[in-house]
Amino acid sequence: MKRTHHCSQIRKSDTGSTVTLNGWVDSVRDHGGILFVDLRDREGLTQIVLDPANKELEAQFGSIKPESVIAVTGKVEERFGGTSNDKLATGEIEVHATELKVLNVSKTPPFPMDDSADRVSEDLRMTHRYLDLRRATNTKMLRMRHATTRAIRNYMDGEAFIEVETPMLFKSTPEGAREFLVPSRMNPGAFYALPQSPQQYKQMLMVGGVERYYQLARCFRDEDLRADRQPEFTQVDIELSFIDREDMYELIEGLMKRVWKDVINVDIKAPFLRMSYYDAMNRFGVDKPDMRFGLELQDCGEIFTNSEFKVFKGTLDSGGAIKAFNAKGLADLTQGELRGLEDSAKALGAKGLAFIKSVDGEWKSPILKFFSEEEKAAIKEQLKVEDGDIVFFAATEWERACTILGRVRLEAAQLLVKREKLVIDPNDYKFLWVIEFPLMLFDEDEGRYVSSHHPFTAPVEEDIEFLDSDPKKVRGQHYDLVLNGVELGGGSIRIHQPALQKKVFEEVLKIPADVVESRFGYMLKAFEYGAPPHGGIAFGLDRMVTILTQRTSIRDVIAFPKNQKGQEMMTASPGIATDKQLRDLHIKAVLPKKEEPKA
Ligand code: AMO
Ligand code: AMP
Repeated sequence: MKRTHHCSQIRKSDTGSTVTLNGWVDSVRDHGGILFVDLRDREGLTQIVLDPANKELEAQFGSIKPESVIAVTGKVEERFGGTSNDKLATGEIEVHATELKVLNVSKTPPFPMDDSADRVSEDLRMTHRYLDLRRATNTKMLRMRHATTRAIRNYMDGEAFIEVETPMLFKSTPEGAREFLVPSRMNPGAFYALPQSPQQYKQMLMVGGVERYYQLARCFRDEDLRADRQPEFTQVDIELSFIDREDMYELIEGLMKRVWKDVINVDIKAPFLRMSYYDAMNRFGVDKPDMRFGLELQDCGEIFTNSEFKVFKGTLDSGGAIKAFNAKGLADLTQGELRGLEDSAKALGAKGLAFIKSVDGEWKSPILKFFSEEEKAAIKEQLKVEDGDIVFFAATEWERACTILGRVRLEAAQLLVKREKLVIDPNDYKFLWVIEFPLMLFDEDEGRYVSSHHPFTAPVEEDIEFLDSDPKKVRGQHYDLVLNGVELGGGSIRIHQPALQKKVFEEVLKIPADVVESRFGYMLKAFEYGAPPHGGIAFGLDRMVTILTQRTSIRDVIAFPKNQKGQEMMTASPGIATDKQLRDLHIKAVLPKKEEPKA
């Protein structure tokens, strides 16, 4: 009984014809002995009528259970007046079965195959991911993910890119995350590392004359997981030769336009907005600002240069900043909500979260008594304080003050959304290039500079002279693509001169020469044989699809994602290796007491 149609295909015009459908029993209703089955396949539903007058059919009724797999042949008939269902593509017809074959009986599934399953625990869904994937939302998600990769491939092909695969078994890379190691049986004691990204290989492809490379690359990072992070994820990885930053922006804007058009039929506007890292931090308190709403941070230092309030004055005297923003209309926040904001601020190292609110024409604040009339007037003017507003302050070093208020801004925005005082439209796509990052950041713990992107990023030409004297001052040719508060991608123009690359490794980042030689020796050598100027970028495909499908977590858009503990629940990975496997690999497992992983 081979299918003639899929379950979303038959229309009124097919009335009278005989069809065969294969699929899953979505639901069964018994109307006085006659069974009405909604038969489902990945395309949709068709109503099947099973009449017990047909004894061959009736004999199988006991197996017609939700999620049983059946094949049905029958005649297409128009539904009786009033019973048609205009929500369903096949809602005007039903198939009156003449033949039925139960291909497999299903046990009762642990959760329903509709959106109510969103309320059961994620672990339960993931343990039965094969059932979860049958749900229409997930079928749609997989299709949109496919549409995304297809749009990317079409676009890249049209731009003369060559898709090249690079090794999964690699060695340690310096991109910052902890790595997954794979012991090498043939080289006792040596380990591969799974690539955090194909960064070094794609640069070698440029030296190899490929000129335009891309790949949908699997990347591996053994990091603590969050809603937008998985230990194993997919990058749209790109590298080009003989280009500058402007070429890159144009290429990627074209790519985003194509993807948004092909996948969700939305025309996005290019060129995208650009903002320096400094402005992003200073105005939004984060390097990936959500540009769909304002609530911008202000610098209030000038107001308080002679303040009576010791916290503010002291901060200014020691070179810090006083940042503030007006959470417009949020003066009615509850004590609990205020405490929530304070806790978030403190988690980022704030000593407190000063505020002033304006209620019924009166200002209220524990610190109001410290402020002169002049200061109050200046606050009112600079922060445009009106009745019903609340202004938050953070006084500490500039970067920390920005980061603290950046977090409070996002949380305050959510509170305003809850009150319907602010709209953050998920259909509003505000792309933004964040540029002019510092090339290095000083790592207090390590007591040395570390790359803000990675050590292959080229410094801005005119800043190279400060590499020795004042590394902080050197800007990198680095760019991040940000969308609605999410870092979609990042990349840079690379260093292609061996001497400059060596200097960055050894003199600026202070990586010992022998380590440079063992890790990057091949790269420095390759650069001596005519490396073209080159640059690239990589996007988080999973993050992109999460936004396109308007889901909340990247776990929602990965077929078999891992949970917070890095486990894939369905197969229960990772698992335990046998003693023989370990012996073959010359490895001994020394487990922490008690915390033995479950087999
Ligand atoms: P970067 O480390 O910024 O750059 O990564 C690029 C993009 O990959 C996505 N991403 C992730 N997505 C899901 N889970 C993760 N754990 C995860 N980590 C990163 C993000 C990020 O913007 N080789 C460089 C790129 C280059 O310079 O060309 C790189 O990997 O969306
Ligand atoms: P205190 O003088 O410590 O009692 O603080 C008075 C108010 O200022 C309290 O509401 C604190 O939350 C707040 N506050 C204290 N330190 C800071 C700071 N560094 N930045 C912003 N607000 C602060």
